[in-house]
Amino acid sequence: MTKAKAPQVPRHIAIVMDGNGRWARARHRPRSFGHNAGRKAVRVAIESCMREGVQALTLFAFSSENWQRPQDEVGALMGLFVRALDKEVDELHTNGVRLRFIGDLNAFDEPLRRRMQASMTRTASNERLQVNIAVSYGGRWDIVQASRQAAEAVARGELRTDEIDEARLNQWMSLADLPPLDLFIRTGGECRISNFLLWQVAYAELYFTDTLWPDFDQACLRRAIEDYARRERRYGRTGEQIAATP
Ligand code: IPE
Ligand code: IPE
Ligand code: MG
Repeated sequence: MTKAKAPQVPRHIAIVMDGNGRWARARHRPRSFGHNAGRKAVRVAIESCMREGVQALTLFAFSSENWQRPQDEVGALMGLFVRALDKEVDELHTNGVRLRFIGDLNAFDEPLRRRMQASMTRTASNERLQVNIAVSYGGRWDIVQASRQAAEAVARGELRTDEIDEARLNQWMSLADLPPLDLFIRTGGECRISNFLLWQVAYAELYFTDTLWPDFDQACLRRAIEDYARRERRYGRTGEQIAATP
């Protein structure tokens, strides 16, 4: 009986890049040292996804809850985002990466927002790999902003409330134009979603690894993809039904 109906390579991968703080603590260094080390892992993940033929990669860089961290850590992360944008965008653009930032971008100060916007505009016509960076992002925020857009369409008289269904609401969710989320990875050992892509994760395959984010390399991504390729995605149906589908 043929089993795996999932495509061998996930079209869209999301990663909760967790464990930077513990990685730094193990080296008796400040947490910001771990965040800096995580930057290299981001580069490796992007390159690995290009090599594997993944179409979209969505990275959780800063959650709506992470604003509650100590001010100096939040400041260090903002500085890191600015430096990364100034240094990495040229090469990403050359490599055909299309960059997008998702989340409540209004929460950031003007210089950072301008950099994010400029990098999105600059890379907008690239097609090799779509890289989405979730910043000040929360899955609940995403559902709220989509609902608000639906309400505004109703208020304008363009939509009736009884026309709001899953497909319609989905149109306003972040990343709706990309392939559906196939594989959700979390590094750092915690088995939770932490308010990442709540709507989009509905039928993603989940993969948790103890590897801390700065140590996550090409071989780690390969293992996650191999694990994914062994899954049987049933979407509520039975294994027999899946096997009988051509
Ligand atoms: C993830 O690593 C990075 C961000 C949340 C910005 P953490 O900073 O959460 O690292 P741990 O979980 O404390 O090890
Ligand atoms: C989730 O990690 C957010 C990011 C990786 C950006 P956290 O470390 O903030 O999650 P919790 O607090 O352990 O749930
Ligand atoms: Mg953490």
